[in-house]
Amino acid sequence: MPRSIEDSTEARLDAFVSNTGHDGNLNYGLLNQQLQGLIDNETDAIANLANASALLWQELPKINWVGFYLLKQEQLVLGPFQGKPACSRITLGEGVCGTAAVMGRTIVVADVHQFPGHIACDLASKSEIVVPLWRNGQLLGLLDIDSPVIDRFDYLDQQGLEGLMQILLARLD
Ligand code: SME
Repeated sequence: MPRSIEDSTEARLDAFVSNTGHDGNLNYGLLNQQLQGLIDNETDAIANLANASALLWQELPKINWVGFYLLKQEQLVLGPFQGKPACSRITLGEGVCGTAAVMGRTIVVADVHQFPGHIACDLASKSEIVVPLWRNGQLLGLLDIDSPVIDRFDYLDQQGLEGLMQILLARLD
């Protein structure tokens, strides 16, 4: 069915302002460029983590929390984030974050209520993705994103977010 001029104009405008294509998928290539632009001339790790969380908060649809936990003395300690206040420390092996840290790989949870030991910081959260930050065989911390929608994160999100973290890792000295 042909779309009205208003509809197609609105769709083009959406794609222009929000990074989301007509298929509803996020343009991670564009997000990579935006992140690169934000962190290129900055060497401070906290500043770069803060801007990365703000960028993801601004651009990712259907999320209610995004931020970082940093590995300090065998605990995950809350770092820069956007969203409601969250638990300050997570023990390795606990919750989705602690599990991803121990397993050392990305975990995508379609329904957090089915995940044994899930730590509920915001009752609105229904699905979650956690991406560990590895550099030279060392775990620095992890990216954690919550969504109020069941099954929010697919393989494209996983690949896109892992790629973004590679860019960020180059500026976490
Ligand atoms: N849900 C996480 C805890 C951190 S909050 O989501 C911000 C977990 O189970 O590890």
